[in-house]
Amino acid sequence: MPKVIGMLDKIIQDLTEKQWSFQPGAISPAELRLMAPLFEGDFQPARVGKKGERQRVEEIRGDWISWIDVLDPPAEIQAQIKLLNELKTQVNQNLFLGLKDFECHLAKYPIGSFYKRHIDRHAKESSRALTYIFYLHQDWKKEDGGELVIYQRSGEKIATITPESGSLVTFISDDFPHEVLSSRRERRSMTGWMHTQIIN
Ligand code: OGA
Ligand code: MN
Repeated sequence: MPKVIGMLDKIIQDLTEKQWSFQPGAISPAELRLMAPLFEGDFQPARVGKKGERQRVEEIRGDWISWIDVLDPPAEIQAQIKLLNELKTQVNQNLFLGLKDFECHLAKYPIGSFYKRHIDRHAKESSRALTYIFYLHQDWKKEDGGELVIYQRSGEKIATITPESGSLVTFISDDFPHEVLSSRRERRSMTGWMHTQIIN
């Protein structure tokens, strides 16, 4: 598996140097085709707000999500869960984040939906330390939109990322406000957070 090891090394290097990373080609087109049926299952409207007072607010966030049991994932994404476990180990060895666990959901953004600028680390749920996003749609083109825009805490825009099919984005959750721009096609991802506490 030299290719996989190589990519993890690059992620670690990026996280160390700039606290975020974009890796194209983390998942092959053939694997993406096998994953497509996962998006035909049951999805719930994603909500915003603190625990206990979560609400659907499409003006903020229009995606639909389906949680994955990372301890018993569907066969189609077992390789990615394995990679995430390996990433957790390497991040701990190199960046000393003390990651203990991770959570994961599939997300689909209907045409024209978006997720306004936000930070993933809720004040009341402070164990989220690392965000990761795999883009699982097929044949995504620049014109399809749906960019992930990443900002510095100071407000300066630092990257506008086209969600290329099969690519993987990682960043330190606390460091980067970010938003998802609207797209011209259904935008599909597998998104999650690594935590400094056991959550599963
Ligand atoms: C999120 C999020 C970014 C993306 O789900 O919190 O910011 O590119 N996703 O899908
Ligand atoms: Mn986010």
